[in-house]
Amino acid sequence: MELVKWPFLKQSWGIEFERSEGAYLYTKDGRKVLDAAGGAIVSNIGYGREEVAEAIAKAVKNNSYILPPFLTPEREALLDELREYWLPSHLTRIHLSSGGSEANESAVKLAIQYQNSRGKPEKNIILTRSLSYHGTTLNMSGISGHQARKRGLESYVPKPITIETPYPLRCPLGKYHPEAKDYYLDDLKKTIERLGSNNIAALLMEPINGSSGGAIAPPEGYWIEAQEILRANDILLIADEVMTGFGRVGSDFASNLYGIEPDILIAGKGMGGGYAAIGGTYSTDKIADSIQNAGYEVMFHTFAALPQSCAASAEVLRILREEKLCERVNPLGDKILQNLYSEIGQHPNVAEIRGKGLLIGIEIVEDKNSLIPFDESKKITGQIMQKGLERGVFLYPGGTGTYRDIICLGPAYTIGDTEIKLMVEVLRDSINDVVRDN
Ligand SMILES: Cc1ncc(COP(=O)(O)O)c(C=O)c1O
Repeated sequence: MELVKWPFLKQSWGIEFERSEGAYLYTKDGRKVLDAAGGAIVSNIGYGREEVAEAIAKAVKNNSYILPPFLTPEREALLDELREYWLPSHLTRIHLSSGGSEANESAVKLAIQYQNSRGKPEKNIILTRSLSYHGTTLNMSGISGHQARKRGLESYVPKPITIETPYPLRCPLGKYHPEAKDYYLDDLKKTIERLGSNNIAALLMEPINGSSGGAIAPPEGYWIEAQEILRANDILLIADEVMTGFGRVGSDFASNLYGIEPDILIAGKGMGGGYAAIGGTYSTDKIADSIQNAGYEVMFHTFAALPQSCAASAEVLRILREEKLCERVNPLGDKILQNLYSEIGQHPNVAEIRGKGLLIGIEIVEDKNSLIPFDESKKITGQIMQKGLERGVFLYPGGTGTYRDIICLGPAYTIGDTEIKLMVEVLRDSINDVVRDN
């Protein structure tokens, strides 16, 4: 019997990477592959930075493991970095975990505990959005709006209770409809009215969709008005910035771009830049104090806030800051978009090229006018990814199954013109190869 070595389910890409450096991955058979997606939109400073390796080594020697609630120099350095330079000033409390899914679970627990601590146990619905991804735990799989990632689990996981994700390209009123914002706000209002605001704890949302939709941003003004509606109805706003956080969309957080103040904010991915398995759940004093006063526990994960993870994350954030890498994000993103418009802007199978900063999505369809996608069985994104790899570029597949065939770009903030040219040309050629054969 054939040994399926890695990963758990057999895959067709047949490629083995030996090492990585900067924005490139190197295969075992000696090829160089540009990582146009920073892994899973994770690597913001690029791979193989010596300073981070040294910070990790130093931390392991000093404190290889210490129970998460105890303060250590490595933890303190990260907490200081976060509070001083990154977090919105109203988010003063920090809970650390080992990644985005765990951090989202913690956020939901805080929201529910907070409502209970206020004597409102009936406020226990966590609203999510029709297109969304919040992680791979059972609860996050259930409440996310991502069909493909919960197949075979539907009978077990919680059912999502959702509002519509604003999707200007596919607004039911019409493509880029001028009243799209009001349409989607109306959907939020009606959902709250139908469920009863006294039953809703929070809305968990990605301010800009990650891989579930590939950089779908709502119409101008949507989030600020949505926040007003939520506040008027005593519903918490939880911003999942696992993908958008730490400079990825051209601002420290997407919430800053939209002028909103989430009650709880979640980060992961870029927080450790791929050097640490780390996630953060950040909340207000008001929420933490209320939970504390009620006598509830906020339990840690055994491997949360590992000293070496904290040291890696603090060093990644210091590099981002001192090398002013976040300032590169918008100009680089604009350049990629310009290149994409000129190479595939008129392509009959490209429905939309969209993005903020270095989170970019390209939506592929069978028919540009009707926006009808290719049949799901064709796995167009998978094929494009495969062609990209063969041509020396890793492209990240997005979409939920229902809305599909979205290619995501999210490279390191350190790339230059050579990388931009290469990723756009390979994407163009890979799309052409695949649509020609389908
Ligand atoms: C927006 C968002 N939230 C949560 C997660 C889950 O994070 P993790 O895979 O680190 O558990 C992801 C991962 O892709 C994500 O993009």
